[in-house]
Amino acid sequence: NGISFKLSNGVTIPGVGFGTFASEGAKGETYNAVMKALSIGYRHLDCAWYYLNEGEVGEAVQDFLKENPSVKREDLFITTKVWNHLHRYEDVLWSIDNSLKNLKTSYVDLFLIHWPIAAEKENQCTPKIGPDGKYVILKDLTENPEPTWRAMEKVYVEGKARAIGVSNWTIKGLEQLLSFAKVKPHVNQIEIHPFLPNKELVDYLEKNDILPQAYSPLGSQNQVPTTGEKVSENKTLNEVAQKNGYTFAQLLIAWGLRRGYVVLPKSSNPARIESNFQSIDLSDQDFEAVNQVADGRHFRFVNMKDTFGYDVWPEESKATISA
Ligand code: A2P
Repeated sequence: NGISFKLSNGVTIPGVGFGTFASEGAKGETYNAVMKALSIGYRHLDCAWYYLNEGEVGEAVQDFLKENPSVKREDLFITTKVWNHLHRYEDVLWSIDNSLKNLKTSYVDLFLIHWPIAAEKENQCTPKIGPDGKYVILKDLTENPEPTWRAMEKVYVEGKARAIGVSNWTIKGLEQLLSFAKVKPHVNQIEIHPFLPNKELVDYLEKNDILPQAYSPLGSQNQVPTTGEKVSENKTLNEVAQKNGYTFAQLLIAWGLRRGYVVLPKSSNPARIESNFQSIDLSDQDFEAVNQVADGRHFRFVNMKDTFGYDVWPEESKATISA
């Protein structure tokens, strides 16, 4: 799947990235999944400090490059993210260095602020958890992320990341960020699938030259909406896929690419890792059929409110789907 996009600074980003969050289970699972993905042809890996498996990703990358001398580090696009407890200026700088060490690379291609939430740390390796079992929110830094963004800009200027951006940010937060940014965010990574097309935000990002990246593009398979219907059980989506002989996942990946953004499917299953990377020809008619399923929906599966003790999308609480 050779589709790629260009970031506003001219950096090329492969359209399909391999998500590494699903594979944080047994030791070796991430290593095997990343090895498999790279051997199939994925060149874009989506990682995060929070996934606690950057070390395994780094080992897989190192071994893959050693075994395949025709592939160079610069052929890969590696993203990682800073977690909530490391939003203070100096902690962001610690976080990137820590991630680079784990990933065994001198730079990442993209460095993101994982959530628009700043939380207190126990120490650099652990977020502080309050008596209520939730993160201890740093209100000032959450409300004014300028120090965090200044550190992101430093990481970019120093060449430790070829692009920088955010994840899970709303239009309101981006407006604030754009008001003081010297380096504009190149990316906003958000949840997008046919039950959460996120059209308004996607349009806003396009207008501002910020590339969207879709996480949970398959509709977060483990979550069941309050309506009872999972994305993967939607009748129309399955009919369109079956009629054409491609999988439901291939349909949703092609739909996202056609809408103009990066798609980050994740899987630990070798056959699914492979089939998710096979491109399909999506007809205009079938693209429209998926658009129609998506039309008017706004069902969010990833809602960390209970963990964070902070609501990133307060205006949406009624529309949020519970697991
Ligand atoms: P598995 O690792 O067993 O393949 P999302 O990114 O929307 O949150 O979805 C990720 C989930 O989707 C994972 O649990 C993954 O499970 C599953 N998955 C990935 N690819 C496919 C596929 N082609 N068909 C069905 N399920 C898939």
